[in-house]
Amino acid sequence: LNTEKIPIDKNLWTPKPCVLSMKYQQYADKVKNMEVKADDVWLITYPKSGTTWAQEMTWLICNDLNFEESKKTDLIVRFPFLELTGIRETPFDSFEDAMKQKSPRFIKTHLPVTLLPDQIWTVKPKIIYVKRNPKSVAVSYYHHQKLLHNYVGTMEDYVKLFINDRTWYSPFFEHVSEYNQLQGYDNLLLFSFEDMKKDLKKIIGQVCHFFNKSYSDEKINELCAHLSFDSMKQNKAVNVDEWVSYLYKTIKKNFEQPTVDMKFVRKGKVDGWKDEMSQELSHAIDEWSKRKHKELGLNIPLF
Ligand code: A3P
Repeated sequence: LNTEKIPIDKNLWTPKPCVLSMKYQQYADKVKNMEVKADDVWLITYPKSGTTWAQEMTWLICNDLNFEESKKTDLIVRFPFLELTGIRETPFDSFEDAMKQKSPRFIKTHLPVTLLPDQIWTVKPKIIYVKRNPKSVAVSYYHHQKLLHNYVGTMEDYVKLFINDRTWYSPFFEHVSEYNQLQGYDNLLLFSFEDMKKDLKKIIGQVCHFFNKSYSDEKINELCAHLSFDSMKQNKAVNVDEWVSYLYKTIKKNFEQPTVDMKFVRKGKVDGWKDEMSQELSHAIDEWSKRKHKELGLNIPLF
C-alpha cells in the first residue's frame, strides 16, 4: 500500500492482540519477514466472510477463466492459505505451498493489518478484502467450528465468544475497520459478501478492472453460473472435502461423520442468521456493534 498515505493514527497502527493458536507465535516472524512480490494476489478476510467464493472468482478472473483447471485442482492448492500450518496441524506446509507457486502467487490470509508481512507496504501487491455482516459471520463461524474444529457448545455460547473477541482472528471490528480505513489505495479493492450477493456481475466487473482483464458477456455469464451457490455447493474443489476427510481420519477420530448438509459451502444467504439466531443474540450483536463503532471512532457504519 502507498506508505506515504498511511494514516498516522496510533489506534490503527499500534500492534493489537489477535486471537490465534499458541503455535502461531513461532510462525509470526516467518510471515512478517516473507518476501512479497509485486504481482502477488492477496485475498484477505475475517473468517466466514465469503473468502472461498471471492477466491474462486479472483483466481478464475486472473487465469483466463480456466474452468477446467479450477475444477481439477483444489482451491487450497491454487490459492494457498498462508498461515494455516501456523495455527493448526496440516498434512502439508501452507506457507511453503504459498511461497513455491510460480508467479503470480495467490495468497489467502485472515491476518489483521498489523500481522501482515512488512514488505506488503513497500512492494504493494494487489489486495482484495471482503467483509461480511457480523451476524452472518457469527452463525457461519459456529457451523464452521462444528464441522472442522469439533466445537460442541451451543450457538449461544459461540456468539458470546465472538462478541467477547475470543474467536480466532478476533477482534472482529478492528479487523474490518483497519482494512476499511485503507480504502482508496490503488492496490486495495474492498467489497462485501452482501455486495456479491446483490450484484455479482458488478463485483466481477470491478475485479476484472482491478486486474486489467476483460471477458465477453458470454464468458462472464459462464463465470456467474460457475460461482452460483448451487454450483459451488457441488464443486468438490472448493468444498475442501479432502481436507475435511483428512481431519475426520486423523484429528477428529471420535467425531460424528458430517452430514450431507455439513458442507463448507453451506447456506450462502445474506439474512440466514435470522433463521438461526435468537432475538437476544441479535440484539447483543447490535449493541456490541454500536459500542465498537463508538470506540473506534467510526462515523460511517461498517455494515
Ligand atoms: P454460510 O455459512 O452462511 O452459508 P468463507 O469462505 O470465508 O469461510 O465463507 C463461507 C461462507 O460463504 C459460507 O456462508 C458459505 O456458504 C458462503 N459461500 C460460499 N460460496 C458461496 C456462493 N457461491 N454463494 C453464496 N455464498 C457462498
